[in-house]
Amino acid sequence: MTLKFVTATQVPLAAQVVAVPVSSDGAVPKELSISRKMLAAVGFEGKVGQTYVSPTEKGAITVAVGIGESAKVSAETLRKSAAALARVVETFENVATTLASVARVDRKTAAQVVVEGMSLATHRYSALKTVEKDLRKLATVTLVGPAGNTAVMTAGIKRGQVIANATCMARDLANMPPAHLTARMIADRAVSIGAETGLKVEVFNKDQLRAMGCGGMIGVNRGSVEPPRMVRLTYKPATRKGARKSSKPHLVLVGKGVMYDSGGISLKPSDPSHAMMKADMSGAAAVLATMSTLKTLGCTSQVTGYLMCTDNLPSGSALAMGDVITMRNGKTVEIHNTDAEGRLVLADGLSLAVEQKPDAIVDIATLTGACARALGENMAGVLGNNQNWIDQITAASTRTDEKLWQLPLEHEYRKLIDSYIADMKNVGGPEAGAITAALFLEEFVGTVPWAHLDIAGPMWANCDAGWLNRGATAYGTRLLIDLATNFKRP
Ligand code: BES
Ligand code: MN
Ligand code: ZN
Repeated sequence: MTLKFVTATQVPLAAQVVAVPVSSDGAVPKELSISRKMLAAVGFEGKVGQTYVSPTEKGAITVAVGIGESAKVSAETLRKSAAALARVVETFENVATTLASVARVDRKTAAQVVVEGMSLATHRYSALKTVEKDLRKLATVTLVGPAGNTAVMTAGIKRGQVIANATCMARDLANMPPAHLTARMIADRAVSIGAETGLKVEVFNKDQLRAMGCGGMIGVNRGSVEPPRMVRLTYKPATRKGARKSSKPHLVLVGKGVMYDSGGISLKPSDPSHAMMKADMSGAAAVLATMSTLKTLGCTSQVTGYLMCTDNLPSGSALAMGDVITMRNGKTVEIHNTDAEGRLVLADGLSLAVEQKPDAIVDIATLTGACARALGENMAGVLGNNQNWIDQITAASTRTDEKLWQLPLEHEYRKLIDSYIADMKNVGGPEAGAITAALFLEEFVGTVPWAHLDIAGPMWANCDAGWLNRGATAYGTRLLIDLATNFKRP
């Protein structure tokens, strides 16, 4: 269900529903012809997330959409209000709303976040449903705003649609079952997406990865019959004639692309919840989706994306505990748990990133259960070696409402990953798992400003709520798009 958004200065005749924002304070808009007292009687207080649908004698059905306290309305609350609206009007084909014209949020951002909220809330991964019919009809949403705002609102709609489409694509990729999306298949997808969106795409196969010394990728892939793929996507902004090419800031994104994580020889217990380990490539999906938007959004920085793709399976040829592998940067790693595979594939990606001498690197990975344990499903952990860079990422996360919490990169804990036989081991023991994983990654970034997003918690939603639906969330996609399009050298 891809929604079409248009702007108008008046509610179009074709609209079957008119949705009007109502704050929890102040007057109720007269279009609703309902008093605050009556709204209160049905339990509608104007809180963010609340809606009240009422039929009218003639004309369109009206929906009161709660936007909360008027002084606290923001892009974040507006996106949530829009999501709630979408959920109550999805059985109507044609809907109009003045939601994108609330005070306090500029009209471009308002249009963008209303598009995001409605598109994300109505997205479902339905490719594999053959029996249950989707009865939803929502097709066209008219954002009604004052005359003179059409151009800015149209620009906001365009940005919102590009971002929402990319996020839905990332959700679809992460929701795809292991056999429906192997490393080879996601690489093929990257090639076609890159061709459509103005990217250079290079795919590296097993032999090439071996020749490049990517011991982490080769090691993790050893138990699988499916070969690995590393994909490098390159976006270069158009340069004005005479401008020095090297003057553009350069950002590198590295995504964990574990197509299915069984744990390998350190097999995960047979719990059905591990079906979600098909989404252990959510980082790679977010990077691919982000890269696909940069040209359309006119990103002015150079951005390189690495997708580190393989599955992690046990077999007679799989990596064993005690094995020592040599990584792309020459460091040796003793394997103490084959389920700590994400850091092994990321390490090679980070080494390759550093070789490009970029201004900053960010990696995104469903890396540790420990991070999910610590922060829960609502936020990702962020760790890194440069506070200015982390602050830039946190600012992006506030704008996109994908929450982050910084954890310390405590160097005192580096000894927890000491190995008596190699440069380090791939696990640090039971304590501070998110931190020791990041300390492992730090061994591969040299002195380049780097930040690591551990999205193990928010990568998956167990129910439909707000702009999230059950399944893969594509957490981080909007954040990375915001980060790349606002990138400043840290
Ligand atoms: N992909 C998992 C982490 C994960 C867990 C993501 C739950 C999303 C939800 C990762 O590869 C993993 O298995 N990590 C281990 C590391 C441990 C062996 C040090 C973990 O967290 O248990
Ligand atoms: Mn694992
Ligand atoms: Zn994993």
